[in-house]
Amino acid sequence: MTTDALCALTFEPLPALAGWYGAHVETIGSTNREMGTLFAERGAALDQHWLTAGEQTEGRGRRDRKWSSPPGNLYASMCLDVSGMRTEALGILPLATGLAIHKALETLLPYSKSIALKWPNDVLIDGAKCCGILLERHVIKDATAAIIIGIGLNVKSHPDDTPYPATHLDAGGPKIALNTAFAALSSAMAETLSGIDRPDFAAMIRDAWRARAKGVGDAITVNLANGQLRGIFHDLDAGGRLVLRLDDNTTRTISAGDIFFA
Ligand code: BTN
Repeated sequence: MTTDALCALTFEPLPALAGWYGAHVETIGSTNREMGTLFAERGAALDQHWLTAGEQTEGRGRRDRKWSSPPGNLYASMCLDVSGMRTEALGILPLATGLAIHKALETLLPYSKSIALKWPNDVLIDGAKCCGILLERHVIKDATAAIIIGIGLNVKSHPDDTPYPATHLDAGGPKIALNTAFAALSSAMAETLSGIDRPDFAAMIRDAWRARAKGVGDAITVNLANGQLRGIFHDLDAGGRLVLRLDDNTTRTISAGDIFFA
């Protein structure tokens, strides 16, 4: 997308979601990257704005990985003004996003599908990853801060070269229109984030997340940036970090990593 086209992008109010706005483009490099650029320009005015794209040519995943982004799936990024937000609320945003997607999928999928959350922020359908979440923090010169929450939801297809099982929403079930998927997602995000100023927001999210999590109490392997740990997925701490119980009964609290179930 050219800089001129990006600058001229107009966001419209989202039907039935007061205070939320959206814009759609057919092709983009990365919705997260462009929302970061737009935030640098428009600042806090971009709060509660969604940008969706029909396809991404440079979709970004966690840990500098690529996110395969062909037409047919949902690519969406939302800007949340977090200036002055309490640290606990900020820290729990990845889990809050996963929880909102879980809620959205409950409204979209048949009852026969099992939906679960995988730490830190994957959503699984029948044990396979259907969606990716990428949160990126931006600060501009007057200290206005935003988190760009990027969500890639496999609707029509999924990549077949992933190191984990992957799936998509339409697999073996009724077709789901992209605008239906986005309406469910944006509504669940608005509902989940509506409590963000409450002092118990982080605790509420953590408890709701844990109740839907796969693998708590089970043996797991955690791939860290600098190695690997095995142990029991003991719990989440108050900030949503993973507490791993090791063989010698000590615990390690982990902020970032990829987990694999035994
Ligand atoms: C992951 O690695 O699991 C996270 C993938 C996040 C992909 C989404 S798609 C919309 C937004 N734009 C991007 O470039 N990435 C995120």
